[in-house]
Amino acid sequence: MTSTITLPDHPPALKAKSDALDFFYGEFQALKSISMPVFQNKVTALIGPSGCGKSTFLRCFNRMHDLYPGHRYQGAIELLPDAVNLLDRRVDPIEVRMRISMVFQKPNPFPKSIYENVAYGLRVRGERSRSYLDDKVESALRAAALWPEVKDRLHDLAFNLSGGQQQRLCIARALATDPEIVLFDEPTSALDPIATASIEELIGQIKDQVTVLIVTHNMQQAARVSDYTAYMYLGDLIEFGETKNIFMKPQRKETEDYITGRFG
Ligand SMILES: Nc1ncnc2c1ncn2[C@@H]1O[C@H](COP(=O)(O)OP(=O)(O)O)[C@@H](O)[C@H]1O
Ligand SMILES: [Mg+2]
Repeated sequence: MTSTITLPDHPPALKAKSDALDFFYGEFQALKSISMPVFQNKVTALIGPSGCGKSTFLRCFNRMHDLYPGHRYQGAIELLPDAVNLLDRRVDPIEVRMRISMVFQKPNPFPKSIYENVAYGLRVRGERSRSYLDDKVESALRAAALWPEVKDRLHDLAFNLSGGQQQRLCIARALATDPEIVLFDEPTSALDPIATASIEELIGQIKDQVTVLIVTHNMQQAARVSDYTAYMYLGDLIEFGETKNIFMKPQRKETEDYITGRFG
């Protein structure tokens, strides 16, 4: 007699964990004890009405707030598997930004060539080998689905690319240093629908190599691209769960009101 063995569902591995994270802009508390997991090789979307703290939370992950005096973190963001608290003053923010890179709302290529934009982080890291840089630039451009369009014009100025191409270039730049997490803050809000679709498709592809955290004010986008969704309101994390559950059967009334458009 043969028996059937059902393989257990393995829970996804943790890549990072926000643990009772508070954040203050001077006296104003923008994040209130946020605790949530970030799963490895998954896309996690942060949603919620404007001003609820999505960007503030995202920027904690690469210590962007350090650049401004009076901004203060309390609590932890642990990077797994080492369990280092990224917010610890003894952790070098430059090192954090190599391992956790960011793509912004508006494409922001440097005033350099396509090639030098992608090579930038590697040069900062001290890479000098031409062949190594060539290989990394090509693989990052391939991963960002831009290689076929630019391979014959690598030394053109990045500003000559279209908006959608510039954003894919910024994604290539963010991938070139082999980061563990890539942060996206409303990466398609300055793009047309076709460029938006290509960025969304790309996010689905790069999660094989990195973990993605994305802020979006577009709920359809969150539903399309993410595996997990966090709903925030006024600095609180209201609900976190698998995207399909957040959209189909949210546990909290506040989440349901938001996703059904009754408010926000
Ligand atoms: N540099 C800043 N100084 C003071 N308050 C800020 C600053 N940036 C954002 N805030 C405030 O923090 C809250 C969260 O903002 P933000 O994270 O940008 O929200 P979201 O990205 O969800 O729209 C808002 O009340 C906003 O006004
Ligand atoms: Mg924002």
